[in-house]
Amino acid sequence: MYQSPRGTRDVLPEDAAVWRYVEERAAAEARRFGYGEIRTPTFEDAGLFLRGVGAGTDIVEKEIYRFQDKGGSDLALRPEATASVVRAYLEHGLASRPQPVKLYSLLSVFRYDRPQAGRYREFRQFNVEAIGDADPLADAEVVAILWRFLEGLGLRNLTVFLNSIGDAVCRPGFIRALVAHYEPRKAEICPDCSRRLDTNPLRLLDCKNARCQPIADAAPRTVDYLCPDCQRHFDALRGYLQAMELPYELTPRLVRGLDYYTRTVFEVVPPTAGAQSTLGGGGRYDGLAEQLGGKPTPGVGFAAGLDRIILNLEEQGCPLPAPDAPDVFFAPLGDEAKRQAAALADRVRRQGAAALVGMGDRSMKARLRQAAASGARWAVIVGEDELREEVATVKDLRDGEQQRVPFDELPGRLAAAASEAAS
Ligand code: HAM
Repeated sequence: MYQSPRGTRDVLPEDAAVWRYVEERAAAEARRFGYGEIRTPTFEDAGLFLRGVGAGTDIVEKEIYRFQDKGGSDLALRPEATASVVRAYLEHGLASRPQPVKLYSLLSVFRYDRPQAGRYREFRQFNVEAIGDADPLADAEVVAILWRFLEGLGLRNLTVFLNSIGDAVCRPGFIRALVAHYEPRKAEICPDCSRRLDTNPLRLLDCKNARCQPIADAAPRTVDYLCPDCQRHFDALRGYLQAMELPYELTPRLVRGLDYYTRTVFEVVPPTAGAQSTLGGGGRYDGLAEQLGGKPTPGVGFAAGLDRIILNLEEQGCPLPAPDAPDVFFAPLGDEAKRQAAALADRVRRQGAAALVGMGDRSMKARLRQAAASGARWAVIVGEDELREEVATVKDLRDGEQQRVPFDELPGRLAAAASEAAS
């Protein structure tokens, strides 16, 4: 027997309504801020992610699904969306449109991660990017989209962690100070940090290893090394967040795991914080377009992990939609009744309601059990008497009340009742 590959999951019909609800709310929130939808391919040239996300990051070094296709192309399943969206912006000349170009996506991404609760190898993201404007209001707006989306779902006690990691002007000075802080302590740090010290010193601040914590806590802070432009940007962003009443916590050690960030970085974390709990994160990436061979183009965005958001909605007992159920279940007895039920159900559907017809050859008792199990609001009984008189028996499965309704009135009345019940 085959099973779904490790780290992947099936979404069965009883859970699909929750997924649809969360994704529809995400899209609606993005559209309220003027974002249009973009859909990019599931796989890209592997080089896009090596150059975009960064060859020394965990995502590219350890987690990427990279393969050669039969034509010998070096491809990768997307481990994130930002590099793809910036590629599409450059490829389609979106710089000629009014800036910033605001784009959102709902997509599956792939990372060869160690699976556990809230961490999968295929997972879904709500991704948002504003490309082509360096205005700190764009940073504030993407934080706002994420916050309003999560708040609108009913999630509580979330924290926005915020930091600025500077740009090409001021970061080198910070990195020198950081390395100078770590060099004399080289013997005390974990092997990963020894490596980071040579390859990607900024990530030293991100280490979760207990023995590195005091050293990271005492390390220089990016915000103390910002150049005047980065400082102005950060101050303006904080002003906008305050104006929109978006709460945040300054977090000097927040650096994020992708190489493209400049200036703003942020993450949203739920109350039961752990290493795998971040619900969403993002930041500004003013150097990414150039890195991918385009003209210098500022950009800012985030991605939220929908699998984790749904876990948190369940944990916090937030309101969730009921599983999908039909409005009407037809319970015919005998072949002729089944034909009649099929015709009536089809007319109900054409009027906009959802109708099922009991299949196979079953007793009326078994049919009514099926009707109840389907979650339908009404069962329509079509037996011998009903066929002869061309009048169906409609049973409200909530209160058991029965009515007799002529066949020719049935589709219209059921569709009207279903639409009233839904509103
Ligand atoms: P990221 O922090 O790598 O950022 O991922 C964003 C979110 O995806 C995380 O906060 C988390 O909720 C979810 N996530 C990450 N890994 C897993 C996993 N293995 N299983 C389940 N959920 C996971 C990015 O992807 C950037 N592209 C965000 C961005 C957009 N920055 C600027 N624009």
